[in-house]
Amino acid sequence: MTTATLDKLTIPVDPVKAEQILAQKKVIGGERIPGFGLAPLKYPWAYEIYSNMRANHWEPEDIPMQKDVEQWRSDEISDVERWIIKMGIGYFSAAEGIVGDNMIHVICEFVTAPELELVFRRHAHEENIHADSLVYMVSSLGLNPHECEAIFEGVRTVQEKTDFVVANSRSLRRDMDMSLLENKQALARNIFIFGQCMEGTQFYGLFGMILSLYRQNKFPGIGQMFRYTLRDESNHIELLRNLLRDIAAENPEIWTPEFKEELRQTMAQAIQLEKNFIRDCLPVSAVGLNIEDFHQYIDYIADRRLVTCGLEPLVGNVSNPFPWLAEMIDIKKEQNFFEGRVTEYQKSTALGNIDDDEL
Ligand SMILES: [Fe+2]
Ligand SMILES: [Fe+2]
Repeated sequence: MTTATLDKLTIPVDPVKAEQILAQKKVIGGERIPGFGLAPLKYPWAYEIYSNMRANHWEPEDIPMQKDVEQWRSDEISDVERWIIKMGIGYFSAAEGIVGDNMIHVICEFVTAPELELVFRRHAHEENIHADSLVYMVSSLGLNPHECEAIFEGVRTVQEKTDFVVANSRSLRRDMDMSLLENKQALARNIFIFGQCMEGTQFYGLFGMILSLYRQNKFPGIGQMFRYTLRDESNHIELLRNLLRDIAAENPEIWTPEFKEELRQTMAQAIQLEKNFIRDCLPVSAVGLNIEDFHQYIDYIADRRLVTCGLEPLVGNVSNPFPWLAEMIDIKKEQNFFEGRVTEYQKSTALGNIDDDEL
């Protein structure tokens, strides 16, 4: 007997069986493993991030909203600031569902190793928590949810941003023969679009706006929920990047110079859609930021996403115009950040699992 480790757990495994399991595990096209088959891990990053996700677990109702409600009803908040909050709730209500849906109907359908299924099901659940947090915000502030949704009706730049991801996801909902090069590339493209373009880049316009308000002590409960969401998203970005890298490592025939260039151009398209969205919908100047800085921030973030996926940056040498945003989610620096019931399930208050490069 030998042993396998899963985070802090040590499990005895038969060495011959262990070898067999490792050979059966593949990102796509692996063999079904009888039993749960987590140990031994072939993709230790998946279990490691899963453990971090568990340690970061949060529930919306634990976040006090009293101050937010008071501010919402007072005249210390401008109409533009209210609009940003409604935008955030409206956009993310749709976006969280789209990501969760893609996770279940595309990614979980095609990945085959148990540790990958485990972590991506958790990823889908975190999208549920995010969606639930938006419902909690709506109910706390006494908003009409249809009013938030209505903000987007007929706004072309919002529709384009949504179509960009939904069209890709829907096109993959069929039995796909994963031995074919084009299908492997289609899945890799989906993983790149959702992890790096959408969660990794297109979420950051509104994140920046809402956290800028939070920085000015406006809507502390909503800001805190967005900080937790952003921390979760950092894990999601890393997960999908690792998945992309391992698909490419196991299927090197997909990772051609043409395909890499196609991914870069897909990111260029995502950046353009996000910049149009920012110009069209986000009253940037209302939170003391200017549009050029905001566009630069999107270029900065997108370049980092590309480089960490082994792709050439699109702009290169872009500096981060909003270093405060990185500090904003550094929960480590805060004392008594978690109060009451949260501490019961919060295993780690540190954000050690997030690289600075996520921001
Ligand atoms: Fe999310
Ligand atoms: Fe996410």
